[in-house]
Amino acid sequence: MENKHILRRNVPTEALPDPVRSCFAAVPRGTEEIAAAELEALGITGGQVGRGGVAFTADRAGLYRANLWLRTASRVLVQLSVFPCTTPEELYGGVYAIDWVSLITPAMTLAVDCSLRDSNATHSGFVALKTKDAIVDRIREACGSRPNVDTAAPDVRINVHLHRNVCTVSLDSSGDPLDRRGYRLERNEAPLRETLAAAVVALTGWDGSIPLADPMCGSGTIPIEAALVAGRVAPGLQRSFGFQRWLDFDGRLWERLLKEADSCIRKLPLGLITGCDLDSRALKLASRNAAKAGFEGQLHFFHAALEEFQPEGDKGVIIINPPYGKRLGEEEALRELYCQIGDIMKKRCRGWTGYVLTGNLELAKYIGLKASRRFVLFNGAIECRLLKYELY
Ligand SMILES: C[S@@+](CC[C@H](N)C(=O)[O-])C[C@H]1O[C@@H](n2cnc3c(N)ncnc32)[C@H](O)[C@@H]1O
Repeated sequence: MENKHILRRNVPTEALPDPVRSCFAAVPRGTEEIAAAELEALGITGGQVGRGGVAFTADRAGLYRANLWLRTASRVLVQLSVFPCTTPEELYGGVYAIDWVSLITPAMTLAVDCSLRDSNATHSGFVALKTKDAIVDRIREACGSRPNVDTAAPDVRINVHLHRNVCTVSLDSSGDPLDRRGYRLERNEAPLRETLAAAVVALTGWDGSIPLADPMCGSGTIPIEAALVAGRVAPGLQRSFGFQRWLDFDGRLWERLLKEADSCIRKLPLGLITGCDLDSRALKLASRNAAKAGFEGQLHFFHAALEEFQPEGDKGVIIINPPYGKRLGEEEALRELYCQIGDIMKKRCRGWTGYVLTGNLELAKYIGLKASRRFVLFNGAIECRLLKYELY
């Protein structure tokens, strides 16, 4: 597999202090428990599940591993400071007190992201600006010049979160969100976010030992995320991360972790994962995305309407992510499709386990089968259900 990592070694590795860091893996709502289990599997124990993420502690290797391997997390933050904050002055003072000079030089660039909940401050742009002012003032006073802002590709991305007038300032160790694995070449109309597709695969419990089929695969996100699991491929292997631009970046450690990840990869057995769709343009995209992800010729994509779908073998997992029908009038047309999903699962997929991910609970009723489990997930702001059907 191709690696495109910037390997920088800024200081001799033996000189790097390696304190235990308080980290937070931010995840799509509803997938917190899965991310905690993923951390455990990486040997990072004691994660605390909270709304929208998991708090954990890690050394440098743990932090790098979390970024490289977490399938459901959208970013990993490293906490710098937590302080009460009811006024702009408290915000400025709290941010100014952080030892920025050890983290950012005047030659580097920075960006500040901000999120607010139930606090006196209500304007995220203002909070981000005040935070940036405090950081650059502190560095200018110590060094005589200040770092510039680069919102698109900064060297250091800072995250400010205000909740009930408590401010948490963190470094974003991921840089670009972790759902940007690097394999998606273009976007089709309604692609599922990679992190959510990975969460869906994890919730089905599929481990690559039986076939998996997605009869409405679109650009192939679910088959590709499944392939990454079955092929034991670290989802971050094709991209770079924010921490690679930090002053304390340990290039030797990072190279070792990449080598380790490379040595885990295995080829998929033929016929393990299939995807079908009515839209040939989306299918082309699925094949190209799969090839870019390192699975050229290992996933099978077929042009087929749902009514032609017939899985091979007597057991396996089917995952369907049908259209939700956002606009008026669309919903009515989709009722028939949802009836067809129920029909086909019942008649042609005996012995398999079916899963449907939808953001439209009214339409889900037209499937007409009794779900044995329901998982609540969020696709951005849309509340979705992953419904499980035992197809005896
Ligand atoms: C919500 S999108 C799936 C997105 C996909 N999970 C992805 O990540 O790109 C729904 C897909 O169902 C396909 N579709 C709609 N009606 C279909 C049918 N009758 N048979 C097969 N595919 C259909 C659409 O072409 C579309 O790609």
